[in-house]
Amino acid sequence: MTEHVPVLLPEVLGFLKLHPGIEKVLDCTLGLGGYSEAVLNLFPGARVWGIDQDEEALYLAGKRLEPFGGRFQPLRGNFGDVDQIAGEFAPFDAILFDIGVSNLQISEGRRGFSFQSDGPLDMRMDTGLEVSAATIVNRYPEKELAHIFWKYGEERFSRQIARGIVLHRQKHGDITTTGSLVSVIREILPAPVQRKMGGHPARRVFQALRIAVNDELAVLEQGLEQAYRLCRNGSIVVVVSYHSLEDRIVKNSFRDRHKEGLAKILTRRPVIPSEEEVEQNYKARSAKLRTMIIETREGKEVEGKW
Ligand SMILES: C[S@@+](CC[C@H](N)C(=O)[O-])C[C@H]1O[C@@H](n2cnc3c(N)ncnc32)[C@H](O)[C@@H]1O
Repeated sequence: MTEHVPVLLPEVLGFLKLHPGIEKVLDCTLGLGGYSEAVLNLFPGARVWGIDQDEEALYLAGKRLEPFGGRFQPLRGNFGDVDQIAGEFAPFDAILFDIGVSNLQISEGRRGFSFQSDGPLDMRMDTGLEVSAATIVNRYPEKELAHIFWKYGEERFSRQIARGIVLHRQKHGDITTTGSLVSVIREILPAPVQRKMGGHPARRVFQALRIAVNDELAVLEQGLEQAYRLCRNGSIVVVVSYHSLEDRIVKNSFRDRHKEGLAKILTRRPVIPSEEEVEQNYKARSAKLRTMIIETREGKEVEGKW
């Protein structure tokens, strides 16, 4: 089975331990169940609900967490609809997000997320989605491609790459595999530019396509707003994200809630992994953790009466 080493796990658990009585936890990004398993072990009285939109992840995590019996319940869906998916089990004492792809998705070429192993140009976390990376690459006009590469990948060469892809499409037809997209990008960008880019020349385009296919930024904003409504006074929300666009959304969402007087932010600056963790798990290198305690208006009224 594919391993997924959970990122910043001791730090996530450390924040949960601040809560005086964890009983109900919602893991909005179950993945392979690393966080959920650790929570179930750490809090023997707790129940965990785990959401994932990836059927394969749900199946594998479900198997892993079988020993916990009825204390764990998997829920299929997109956390952008968390209200609808998990509302009936609310309120939760803790809500976790560990955004992005799991090793299961990235390490298997067949899911089409990886620029390192060949596979179909797919990138859908939920395989029921209509638009895949291939749809975008082969059907979207040049301007829109450039916009996606720039906005979601912060790719400096977005326009050149978009132009090159469209020319390639006209000459040779559709780009259907991750391997051929990588070759096309390598052909478009002059070698000295590729050397200067730092990292793989296709990395930012792949990131951009993944975000666009799964509409990740809009869904994150929506998921956070809905998650707050599933909390009670004193609940803790922990979010781990992996690139600056996501971290900005988390930071702003927390700040807005704090401004309304409805949150206590515990991380003025995001918590990042130690050098040791990054050495052992390269995927952790860009992780940022933010957390806050939810305060509700009703909770404040109660406090006021004490
Ligand atoms: C980084 S992994 C989580 C790993 C997990 N914390 C662990 O320790 O095993 C992220 C998971 O979240 C899922 N995911 C990402 N965005 C999602 C969304 N909008 N709705 C539901 N699941 C999502 C992915 O399918 C993936 O399995």
